[in-house]
Amino acid sequence: MKILLLGSGGRESALAWKISQSPLTEKLFIAPGNGGTGAYGENVAISPVDFQAIEDFVAEHGVELLVVGNEDPLVAGITDYFKEHKPGLLVVGPERAGAMLEGSKDFAKRFMVENNIPTARYRSFTAETIEEGYRFLEELEPPYVLKADGLAAGKGVLIVDSLDEARRELKEMLGGMFGASSATVVIEEFLNGIECSVFVLTDGHGGYRILPVAKDYKRIGEGDTGLNTGGMGAVSPVPFADEAFMAKVEERIVKPTVNGLLARGIDYRGFIFLGLINVGGEPMVIEYNVRMGDPETEVVMLRIASDLVPLLEAAAKGDLGDMPLAVDPRTAVTVMLVSGGYPGAYPKGKAIKGTESVSESILFHAGTAVKEGSLVTSGGRVIAASSYGVDIPSALECSFRSAQAVDFDGKYFRRDIGRDLL
Ligand code: AMP
Ligand code: GLY
Repeated sequence: MKILLLGSGGRESALAWKISQSPLTEKLFIAPGNGGTGAYGENVAISPVDFQAIEDFVAEHGVELLVVGNEDPLVAGITDYFKEHKPGLLVVGPERAGAMLEGSKDFAKRFMVENNIPTARYRSFTAETIEEGYRFLEELEPPYVLKADGLAAGKGVLIVDSLDEARRELKEMLGGMFGASSATVVIEEFLNGIECSVFVLTDGHGGYRILPVAKDYKRIGEGDTGLNTGGMGAVSPVPFADEAFMAKVEERIVKPTVNGLLARGIDYRGFIFLGLINVGGEPMVIEYNVRMGDPETEVVMLRIASDLVPLLEAAAKGDLGDMPLAVDPRTAVTVMLVSGGYPGAYPKGKAIKGTESVSESILFHAGTAVKEGSLVTSGGRVIAASSYGVDIPSALECSFRSAQAVDFDGKYFRRDIGRDLL
C-alpha cells in the first residue's frame, strides 16, 4: 500500500520508522519530512496544510492511506476535505469536529463534563464576562491555571501563584495576548500530581486500542526546572501507570471519550492523546490532543511489537475489529538533543556530526535538514535518541552514550529523563 505521512518532527520520524518496517508498505512518502526521514521513505516538499497540493500528489502517486501526524491540518479540516474531494482515500486523523478536542479547550472541557470524565473544575470567560472571571478566581485556591481556548503553539497555558497576577493575566489574555486563541479563556482548578500520556487509536465506530503509556519531560532544565519546551525526553512504560491505574483510565476516561464522540455523531478515526494527571491514584484529564505526542511517539513506537500499518488501515476503514496490538515488554527511553538557547532564540544551520557512529540507539530526527549534502540543525529540538533497556536506567544510559556521540555546536540535553520515576 502507498502511504503518505504528514509532518516533519521527531514524532513523524518515529511513525515513519515504524510504518517503513511493515511488509504492507509498498511506498512511504513524508511531507515535508526532515533531514532523517529520507531513511524511511521519500520526502516530498509539500506543506501539511496545503490540501490542494496534497490532493494533487495523492492522485498522481496513487496514495491509498494518509496519516496525519500534526494537529494543524486536522484542526483546519483535512479529513473533511478529503471526505468531500476524494472519498476513497483512507485517512488516519479525526474530522474537524473531533479535532476540536484539541482546537478548543472550552469544547474539550464541556465534552468532559457532559460525559462525566474526571477533570479539573473550570469555567470559561470572554471579554464580556471578565468581571465574573475575577470572581471565579477568588473562589479558587492558588496556583491559578489560565488557558487560552484555541491553539497557541503550546504556549497558551499560564500557571500563576498570586491572585493579582492571575487577574492581570486574565485581562491580558482576553485583550489579545494570544490573538484570537485567547478571546475565550478557561480558568480551572490546579491539580496536584504526576502526569502521563495515554494514546488511543480509534475507528470511529466504538473500536479502540490503547497504546503503551508514556511520560514526557517538558521543562528545559534537569529536575523539571526552567521554561516549558515541546518535550525534552520521554519514557515508556510508566511505573505508576500500573494495571489498576490503567483499568481506571480505560473505564473512566477512554470508554466515555469514545462513546461521547459517537453520541455527538463525530466520526473519529485516529489517535486520541489523553494528557493525564495521577491525583492520589485517580486519573484525571488535563487535556486532549488529537494526534500522537512528541517526544512520546519516539518511545511508544519502540514498544509496539505488532505491525502498525494494518492497525492504521483498519482504524481509517472504521473497523479495528479484534486486530491485536502486541506490546514489547522492554523499557524505552528517548533523550532529546536541542539547540543551545532553545526554547528561546537559537541558531540554525549548525553541522551535525557523529550520527553514523551510533548503533545502540535509534536516532529520530526532528529539527534537521540536509543542506548541500550535509546534515545541519534546522530547529530547536534536533534529534531524539531512543533506546531499549531492561529498565529505565539501562535504556537511559544507552541514550546518553548516543547523545554524547552526536555533536553540533550548542548541543544540550537533559540527563535525568525518567529518574523521577525510580
Ligand atoms: P496543556 O497545554 O493543557 O497541556 O497544559 C500545559 C501544562 O500545564 C500541562 O502539561 C500541565 O503540566 C499543566 N497544567 C495544565 N492544566 C493544569 C491543571 N489543571 N493543574 C495542574 N497543572 C496543569
Ligand atoms: N509531548 C506533548 C505533546 O506532544 O503535546
